[in-house]
Amino acid sequence: MNLHGLEKSRLPTHVAIIMDGNGRWARLRGKSRLEGHREGTAAVRATVELSRDLGIRYLSLYAFSSENWNRPHDEVEGLMALLESYLECERERMMREGIRLMAIGDRKRLPVSVRRVLDQNIDLTRHNTAITVILALSYSGRDDIVRTVRDIARKVKEGEYDLPEIDESLVAAHTETGCIPDPDLLIRTSGEMRISNFFLWQIPYTELYITPTLWPDFSKRQYIEALLEFQRRQRRFGKTDEQILRG
Ligand code: IPE
Ligand code: IPE
Ligand code: MG
Repeated sequence: MNLHGLEKSRLPTHVAIIMDGNGRWARLRGKSRLEGHREGTAAVRATVELSRDLGIRYLSLYAFSSENWNRPHDEVEGLMALLESYLECERERMMREGIRLMAIGDRKRLPVSVRRVLDQNIDLTRHNTAITVILALSYSGRDDIVRTVRDIARKVKEGEYDLPEIDESLVAAHTETGCIPDPDLLIRTSGEMRISNFFLWQIPYTELYITPTLWPDFSKRQYIEALLEFQRRQRRFGKTDEQILRG
């Protein structure tokens, strides 16, 4: 396996990406926003492929936020059509390369045709083990937390849990990412210094990497740069530098 100068033992277990900048990429080229989104799917493919080849266990991709439903109708429709054809095209590759697909977010809001192919891919790939790709679709970090609170409150009401049993691990288990470990690295393309309602509960100690590169231009080389930078970071989790160095 070509590790591109990366230390295998220090690779992130879970990488999350806010794939932003398709619209600006298109505008710079005098193209439609949808062409930017289309070009973005090539970067998705490359990112999944490299993650898998490196042995990264989980890759979460923020593809469509709850707030993105407020975009112009044509853009939303175009994005949904693109998503559907992407999922159809990728099915064979996912099976061939051992990619397991999962989805988080309010799937009920997705068009039926998208939901159908999404569910098919999720079901078909459920036993694949090379990597788990988590697509965040119609996702909102706050909504994830609200649903978690509701779910736990209902269980307390029904007597399944007592209040003292509610701790961090129980809350985490009820979020949409359930048993998936928190992201080690969160990448955002297009230079925006914000989370835009992506993972909120899940990123207390996640390393943030923000690059000005627009998503369609995010290449494997740039992904490797982000991973190299991640490996240069010292994750302290509140401890001192000395404590970390002593191990
Ligand atoms: C990210 O690119 C894709 C989605 C949010 C669906 P944008 O469409 O947000 O691109 P910019 O931010 O306008 O450049
Ligand atoms: C975040 O990008 C959502 C996705 C990449 C899917 P946006 O383009 O929607 O974020 P804002 O509006 O600039 O914060
Ligand atoms: Mg954007």
